[in-house]
Amino acid sequence: MANPNNKPILFTSLSPALLNLYDINSSIVVIIDILRATSTIATALHNGAKEIIPVDSVPECIRIGKQMGAITAGERDGKVAEGLQHGNSPMEYPSSFISGKTLVLTTTNGTKLLHMALEKGADQIITGAFSNLDIVCDYLLHQKKNVLLACSAWINRINLEDTLFAGAVIHKIGKHFNINCDASNIALSIYKEAGTDLFTYIKEKPASHYLRLSSFGMENDIKYCLLPNTAPILPFYESGRLLKG
Ligand code: MLT
Repeated sequence: MANPNNKPILFTSLSPALLNLYDINSSIVVIIDILRATSTIATALHNGAKEIIPVDSVPECIRIGKQMGAITAGERDGKVAEGLQHGNSPMEYPSSFISGKTLVLTTTNGTKLLHMALEKGADQIITGAFSNLDIVCDYLLHQKKNVLLACSAWINRINLEDTLFAGAVIHKIGKHFNINCDASNIALSIYKEAGTDLFTYIKEKPASHYLRLSSFGMENDIKYCLLPNTAPILPFYESGRLLKG
């Protein structure tokens, strides 16, 4: 694609089902799963986790957990998956528990998308959440590389909270990129419409995963995951693990 201003190019993929439409071999892929995988990843690393190993299945999570003597964690359909020790709530990983430990994590959508991006040959993979919004934006700005904001969605169905986060990134740094992408424009419009109270916005819509998680009594998780910059670190994927970048 022509790049008239010599700026890097930014695209947004609103669902894993759309990932195959984008050339990511020379792009930084930002995996986004606001409720809750990438919020939990940022929080656990910020609270001192040594590393997080994202895996795409429960049996693999159990196998690697045993092999490494690590904590196994994750969810299916928003609930702690059978056979794992912990769930996917950021509240489960305070520094008193997670500091210095390895977490093996599997989630319904977020860790799956990360593996898809890996298999498709992403140049770099980082994870983004409101919890680490500013540091992700600073990183993307300084790398001067093409970017794909990759929303994990919910079983391929577009969701509001990941789209909002893509909009927040574009709102902050979009002018430094060439954006010829309707998904990015939609994300930005929704973010502007939401205003500053994101919790009320997704509650009133209502967002589908808001309904799912709140029906399990997890409103506090949702509130936390929508707060900006509570875990200001950059999770960076390298050789099978997410590390504090
Ligand atoms: C996912 O990967 O789908 C999730 O993060 C779901 C959740 O734990 O709420």
